[in-house]
Amino acid sequence: MLFKQQAWLRQKLLVLGSLAVGSLLYLVARVGSLDRLQPICPIEGRLGGARSQAEFPLRALQFKRGLLHEFRKGNASKEQVRLHDLVQQLPKAIIIGVRKGGTRALLEMLNLHPAVVKASQEIHFFDNDENYGKGIEWYRKKMPFSYPQQITIEKSPAYFITEEVPERIYKMNSSIKLLIIVREPTTRAISDYTQVLEGKERKNKTYYKFEKLAIDPNTCEVNTKYKAVRTSIYTKHLERWLKYFPIEQFHVVDGDRLITEPLPELQLVEKFLNLPPRISQYNLYFNATRGFYCLRFNIIFNKCLAGSKGRIHPEVDPSVITKLRKFFHPFNQKFYQITGRTL
Ligand code: A3P
Repeated sequence: MLFKQQAWLRQKLLVLGSLAVGSLLYLVARVGSLDRLQPICPIEGRLGGARSQAEFPLRALQFKRGLLHEFRKGNASKEQVRLHDLVQQLPKAIIIGVRKGGTRALLEMLNLHPAVVKASQEIHFFDNDENYGKGIEWYRKKMPFSYPQQITIEKSPAYFITEEVPERIYKMNSSIKLLIIVREPTTRAISDYTQVLEGKERKNKTYYKFEKLAIDPNTCEVNTKYKAVRTSIYTKHLERWLKYFPIEQFHVVDGDRLITEPLPELQLVEKFLNLPPRISQYNLYFNATRGFYCLRFNIIFNKCLAGSKGRIHPEVDPSVITKLRKFFHPFNQKFYQITGRTL
């Protein structure tokens, strides 16, 4: 009898213990997410909004995580849009490139900020003549719904290297903020090649080896006609942009550091965009399986980037890598000189 009672007591204690531990874990997680619900009034001051400070952050977060999704899927009625004072705003900042620099990671990570709303798709408005011909209203209609206090950001990496783009963006908004994310140029060129190679393989097509494309077989010099090489000469492209925008309107993100240590890079962008610091270590966690940082919005919602980001690169002849690094060196120096950022 005594033994039975003891067993019953032990079982009860076990249940109570599990409940206590469960509640504690829930509270710890909640504190983490509550941190994300702090008032974000400085945004309103800086971005010129008139909404009540207590009301905005919660609604903005709610909107970003729930309603926004519905709006994107086209499930929201005009009435709901009106009710929530939602607007489609032209971007106040654009990630103009560089292709394979980490543009998607940067956009998704910035979207963790409650005052930022991302345009999910690459819109290719300024680099595509047909799209550009459709006019600025067409472009605005491609933007996601947002509160007037939020800022919209889009990314189309082709903008950085396309001749006509700086003038076109200037005509839309001469004081727009421009983000450029770069990686070590040789790595970027190989990443660029890997993406094209994968596309060919998907179509069962063969493709040249990287070495064959990057080095001119006649001169044994770096082949500057190869697009992946040309794109990595960052300073050449930037110089074209500087004919329209002062350097203060650009911010360079170190794409290699964004991979290994994203938070400090994101904090620099928050500063550049005049946003209060809201992205924290809580929002970024390293996923060992992916080998990359992934995003945590709250206790329920987190995500890693798609598998097409973070591909395994093919092996490249070390002598070709050395040749390319030597080739890019003076251009990098010039880029550092102009931007004031050594990478
Ligand atoms: P690789 O696939 O060569 O590794 P973009 O979005 O401009 O196409 O850039 C893709 C690159 O973003 C990837 O190149 C990857 O290295 C980099 N990247 C940076 N942060 C990442 C992250 N958190 N998850 C996945 N890829 C990331």
